[in-house]
Amino acid sequence: MFAETIHEPAMALAETLLRGMRNPRLSRVFYSDNGSTGVEVAVKMGLRAARLRYGWGAGEKLGVLGLKGGYHGDTIGAMDCAEPGAYNEKIEWYEGKGHWLDYPTVLCSDGKWSVAVGEGLAEHLGRGAGYPSLHDIFDVEARERRGEHRRYEAYVTETLTRLRQQGRRFGALILEPVVLGAGGMELVDPLFQRTLVNVVRQSPHLLGASGGAPREPEDWSGLPIIFDEVFTGLYRLGRFTPSSFLGVHPDISVHAKLLTGGLVPLCATLASEHIFEAFGGSDKTDALLHGHSYTAHPVGCQVALASVREMQAMERRGDWEWAATQGWKGPDAEGQGGGAGGRHVWSSWPRQFVEELSRSDRVTGAWALGSILAIHLKDSAGAGYSSNAAMGLREALGRGREAGAGGPWNVHARVLGNVLYVMASKTTSETSIRQITDLLRESLAS
Ligand SMILES: Cc1ncc(COP(=O)(O)O)c(C=O)c1O
Repeated sequence: MFAETIHEPAMALAETLLRGMRNPRLSRVFYSDNGSTGVEVAVKMGLRAARLRYGWGAGEKLGVLGLKGGYHGDTIGAMDCAEPGAYNEKIEWYEGKGHWLDYPTVLCSDGKWSVAVGEGLAEHLGRGAGYPSLHDIFDVEARERRGEHRRYEAYVTETLTRLRQQGRRFGALILEPVVLGAGGMELVDPLFQRTLVNVVRQSPHLLGASGGAPREPEDWSGLPIIFDEVFTGLYRLGRFTPSSFLGVHPDISVHAKLLTGGLVPLCATLASEHIFEAFGGSDKTDALLHGHSYTAHPVGCQVALASVREMQAMERRGDWEWAATQGWKGPDAEGQGGGAGGRHVWSSWPRQFVEELSRSDRVTGAWALGSILAIHLKDSAGAGYSSNAAMGLREALGRGREAGAGGPWNVHARVLGNVLYVMASKTTSETSIRQITDLLRESLAS
């Protein structure tokens, strides 16, 4: 019963999250109890704000703009934000409501880091390019100075223009920043996502009807931008928020999973003042009428507060420094606040190990960022969610080490089509990472 009330853990958590995001746009927090619901709340917020700004009638159908292979949850509204695919195609009520753009991905193949462009996109974006390191791919400002974003700009503008000509209407852009999780564990070129956000913000003329100008610099423009940080947020990728990799701030963001360290359910949807104002007015039906029995559950909020504060303390203490120095923090990090706490790109998984994996005959490529290691296996039957190429490797990890052979322990890994991924926790030790990398190496070779 959280409506029109407050309690201390909810207030303290809201302040901690808003401070941690360092996003000048965000000032409001809406609590729910799982990621899917938090996404639904975010979408309700975005769509309403767009409808009011552009003067669209209540009967006008609005969709979302997103990325192919995105995943935002399994409640029906969140599911409708994803393109048709394995998770939803047999669901009676599913109706994909949007347009999903294709995008370039990042992979280390044969020891070399590159931005890869799929067949369908090559005519717009060329063939992709190699880079000396993952850090260089994430140096989006330097890449922008070299004009690498121009092709992305043209492709997004062309897409928006075509959609407008088809009479399509959208109420929000929703993205999983940097990593598309459940949809296939893809590392998206950060420059592409940054450019997409910037083009949407600069294109009210392609997205709105009339009167589309923002009122202030921090007001949303074009479309409200939603970052679904349920999976990638709160240090999963090594930083408090993955939006810092992109250098752009969302108008709405969604946080769950690591929010409570996985102990109890909770979700927080953060929004700007301008989005909040879309729900003001004297008529009760104008309010954001969305509530669950467990909205802002005090135990959930208190656990989240402890969890977020602990992760912030670990960052301040430099508890992840051992990880950042495993080949990620090179001399180029000097003077940029390099290291686990700084602006550098790092992972719990050693860089050399990722590059070694990527040279295996069984592997197309691999990448690691923060606690995630993703291995894309070769599959003669073609990649995709129904591929079984990674199952053997998963079984070998599941057998793990027996007692007497350094065990007993095993590894629970997840398979998404031809991709196997493992995730460390924020407290996984250097020793555990070594043991798991040894097992992975052996399992791949056998
Ligand atoms: C990016 C993303 N969004 C939303 C969700 C849905 O969260 P929940 O499972 O808590 O409903 C998930 C869950 O896997 C997710 O990865």
